[in-house]
Amino acid sequence: MFVLNTNNILEKVDFKEYRAEVKKINGMINDRSGLGGDYLGWTTWPKDYDKKEFAEIKKWASYVRENYEVLVVAGIGGSYLGARAAIEAIKGLKSDDKLEIIFMGQTLSPNYVAQILRYLKDKKFAINVISKSGTTTETAIAFRFLEKMAEKKYGAKEAKNAIFVTTDKEKGALKQMANTKGYITFTLPGNIGGRYSVLTAVGLFPIACANIDIDKMMSGAYDAMMEFNNGDIMTNQCYQYAVLRDYFYRHGKKAEMFVTYELQYQQLGEWLKQLFGESEGKEGLGLLPDSATFSTDLHSLGQFIQEGSKILFETIIFPKTPTYDVEIPYDEENLDGLNYLAGKTLSYVNEKAYLGTLEAHTSDGKVPNIVIELGKLNAYTLGYLFYFFMRACAMSAYLLHINPFNQPGVEIYKKNMFHLLGKKGY
Ligand code: PA5
Repeated sequence: MFVLNTNNILEKVDFKEYRAEVKKINGMINDRSGLGGDYLGWTTWPKDYDKKEFAEIKKWASYVRENYEVLVVAGIGGSYLGARAAIEAIKGLKSDDKLEIIFMGQTLSPNYVAQILRYLKDKKFAINVISKSGTTTETAIAFRFLEKMAEKKYGAKEAKNAIFVTTDKEKGALKQMANTKGYITFTLPGNIGGRYSVLTAVGLFPIACANIDIDKMMSGAYDAMMEFNNGDIMTNQCYQYAVLRDYFYRHGKKAEMFVTYELQYQQLGEWLKQLFGESEGKEGLGLLPDSATFSTDLHSLGQFIQEGSKILFETIIFPKTPTYDVEIPYDEENLDGLNYLAGKTLSYVNEKAYLGTLEAHTSDGKVPNIVIELGKLNAYTLGYLFYFFMRACAMSAYLLHINPFNQPGVEIYKKNMFHLLGKKGY
């Protein structure tokens, strides 16, 4: 079940007005003729993906699961967020899986890196370093630490079996290193950019290592591709969502807040923030993507959303059925007054929090709410959602006449940093 529920958007948006433009842009997406069209490989990836590499991914994921206690995934941005979002959303934050997955290479935090390195000392760990360019500083530094540690722990020959590299097919320092050292390598196709790469080896290898069914994930993405590749705004919910974003932006909204009611979906919010922020935030345009987890953040941001400046709309992702649930116990003394909830599940209470908040934010707060309703968040529905959002993002950016697939602004901080670090040429 997947429904884009527009009952709470507080506006009458006439999709018909967007009919011609959406049809035209959809044509551009399908024939890859729009801005950045060379990076539209992900649109047909759910059917075109490399089946041989897919089998290798599954084979090596089983090997990692059989032979190691920890997989350290080193990557940043699009080379990290999708895998983390999927693994946490599906396995939860306190998974008891036999393989622990740790992320590194997404930060220059000395505290975090030092603690992870210390933690790994006594663990049998494998490494998946992921970088399309092969030169990203955060990731390269993390990999240098990890590779050295693995070589010390297992010996250079044995370390080779513990290191998996995901990078460009031909180019980049990491590719060269992998060739020189003989590491097992997965590829990120040249026509798919970082933040659109979750369904390639970039996301799939760590996700498979976490014992998540990547066949089901690809089948969800395939179904979404079949459903959302048509240019009819009147029936295509993916483009309806893109058009609503565009409509709100053009009618004064400055931010979209992605909201879930599950702590384990927080990283999905991070993935969405990157997808939309890096794809659309350029040329002085674009909505600020933000994310919140309710009811937690109702006790922090809730006040602003309810009564603060009216700069945002919310997009709620609400899978109806959780993977796990607990029942609230009865208490003889009832000192906390909670017996009216005894026997009820926490998901029941969470859903009422959601419905109460929806009403409060829309009726009283006058904040438009788009709701994405799902039955359950699992490998299939997440594959479907990933595709839905990527396609919606491309449509949104093209509605603003923006190239969704570059990120020129990100280079500026890097240049300054390299200059300050004394890197040659800066
Ligand atoms: O979406 C993008 O292209 C970026 O976020 C990249 O994924 C990120 O900067 C990491 O780049 P790389 O994979 O080259 O290390």
